[in-house]
Order: sequence, then structure tokens, then C-alpha cells
Amino acid sequence: MAVLVTGGAGYIGSHMVVNLVEAGEEVVVLDNLSTGFDWAVAGAARLVVGDLADTDLVHQVLAEGVDAVIHFAGSVIVPESVADPLKYYRNNTSNTRSLIEACVETGVKNFIFSSTAAVYGDPQTVPVAETAPLRPLSPYGSSKLMSEIMLADTAAAHDFAYTALRYFNVAGADPEGRTGQSTAKATHLIKVACEAALGKRERLSIFGTDYDTPDGTGVRDYIHVADLVEAHRLALARLRAGGSSVVLNCGYGEGYSVRQVIDAVRRVSGRDIEVLEEPRRAGDSSKVVALAEAVRHELGWSPRYDDLDTIVSHALAWERHLAQRNKAC
Ligand code: UD1
Repeated sequence: MAVLVTGGAGYIGSHMVVNLVEAGEEVVVLDNLSTGFDWAVAGAARLVVGDLADTDLVHQVLAEGVDAVIHFAGSVIVPESVADPLKYYRNNTSNTRSLIEACVETGVKNFIFSSTAAVYGDPQTVPVAETAPLRPLSPYGSSKLMSEIMLADTAAAHDFAYTALRYFNVAGADPEGRTGQSTAKATHLIKVACEAALGKRERLSIFGTDYDTPDGTGVRDYIHVADLVEAHRLALARLRAGGSSVVLNCGYGEGYSVRQVIDAVRRVSGRDIEVLEEPRRAGDSSKVVALAEAVRHELGWSPRYDDLDTIVSHALAWERHLAQRNKAC
């Protein structure tokens, strides 16, 4: 049976497809290519270009021998979600509702959902456990939390099980250089710092130097994208074996400050990065680090790339590849 990967042409989705193809899975990708790239989809997967809002298409794809869905498609920019919340409730919440409904109607029982640490908002206790209060600070976080709630209710009512994976800060690229973070105008710290190191941008802004953290800058739990998608593959195996629904944090349980990340990019690239200290960015938390025991215990997950310099070196290699690629275009 095939696995449907929605958003499989995007950053995390394209790594998922590489992982599944390598594991010998039959993979169908559904992606509207609004932020993804057809060239990012591994050749062995079948790419269907279309939108999740097209319920006929979704039904058709699911009915063609799919037994599991890994759902990445959605919008992910926190400040944009504040400016245009209804876009997020459409792309993330409504489209997820339609997809879950289509799964129930076509008898697809296994669902893996791309959730986020943004459901916790500004956690009061760090590291933050899955049982911590859920108080998203943005429509992005709310739109994902609403999807988690729909999944829980559906699993209670139907023959349907899900795994919701709450990602912390995903970074890095495929260690073999087959795919990476390719979105233009990305705002994520490691990507932006790599761009600055390679001269693709003049400088890097540090948003906030007065946080209650050891060096005053924000602390995050950066997880390598290859380890993250491996957690999905293990979650898929567990669901197929009849595992029950579960919600799991995906991080390493280790926090790094913005300054530590910049130092790592300087160290690994051998280049200096011009830094501008700026005020805090609206909506940012001071410290977001996962309690990441359950994912190891439930899935038998054991990360291979849990080292900041390794994450940075893979991100840098991809950034160099993109520069070559764009030159060739
Ligand atoms: C947030 C969400 C995450 C979501 C992601 C999508 C939370 C807890 N996390 O991550 O779920 O997937 O957005 O966009 O809500 N920084 C700088 N300069 C920069 C960029 C970032 O100083 O140019 C700092 C930020 O202030 C923050 C850290 O670096 O302290 C990480 O920021 P970023 O990479 O943007 O991710 P989050 O905002 O943590």
C-alpha cells in the first residue's frame, strides 16, 4: 500500500519522501507547489499537483491504494498568520478537516500530522512536556492545535489512529545533499545565518538581547530534518502495527541561543557574519526546549545528527548547492 505525503515538495516533506523511498515505500505526493518545488520530489515518488481543497482529487488519490497519510501541507509563517489569520484557518485547519474526512470516508486509518511547538505558546516550564498547557500565541499555533483536536475527536469516533508530532526548530538538510530548505525569503535563524555567511545577505539581525537567558538571546531546540523525518517513518510503522494515537514532541531536549547558533555558523563556514542587535520580534518566546523522552520511548527513535555543527554544516552545504543551482538557471 502507498503512503500519501501532502506537501511532499516542501522543505520537510521532500526529506520525508527521500526517507520513505529509501525504505522501499510506494509514495504519492500531493502538493500545490505554492511554496514547494517539483524538482525537490524524489524521482521514485508520484507527484500529483493539486490542492487539498479539491476534495474530489483527494478522494481519488486516497482510493488508489493508500493506507497512510503523512500531512505536511500548510502555511508556516508565524507573523503572516497574525496578519492573515483566515489564510491559516483555511490552509491549515479547514484543509486538514477535509483530509481527515476523506480518510474516514475512504477507510484510510493511519494519519501522521505535522504539528508544532507553537501550540505551547510561551511555555512556563522548560523543557516543555506534551502535557503542558496549550496556549498558542499566534493563529499559526491555533490552526495547528485545532487540527490536533479534530484528530483526537475523529480517532475517538472512528476506526482511525493518528500521531501528532510537535516540531521544535527544524533545520539542516539531507546529509547526502539531495534536498534542503529552498524557500526564498525564509526567516528561520539557521537558514538566514547560512545565507549571511555565504554573502547572500549583508547581515543578520539578532531579535532581542534582553531575554532572561544566559546571553540574553532567545533559546531554541534545533532538530535536524533527517532525524525528524525518521521519527515519522517510525510513527508510520507503529501505526501500521496497530499502535494507538499519540502526541509527541520532536526535539533533542537541548537549547541553543541565537548567539551560539551564529558562532556555530561562523565556526563551520570559516566566515565572519555581520550582526545587528535589534529589539525583540513580536510574539517570540525566550526559551522553547522540548522534553523529548516520549518520542524515544514510544517510537524507539534515536537521533543520528543531534549536534549543532552537523546541522549547520548540512544547511551550509545546501545553501552552497542552491547558489550554484540559481547561477545555472
Ligand atoms: C517559530 C515556531 C515554529 C514554526 C516556525 C515557523 C514557536 C515556538 N516556534 O519558530 O513552530 O515552525 O516559527 O516560522 O512558535 N532570530 C533572530 N534573527 C533572525 C531569525 C531568528 O534573532 O533573523 C531568532 C528568533 O528571535 C528566535 C530564534 O532566532 O529567538 C529562532 O527563530 P526562528 O528560526 O524564526 O524560529 P521560531 O520563531 O523559534
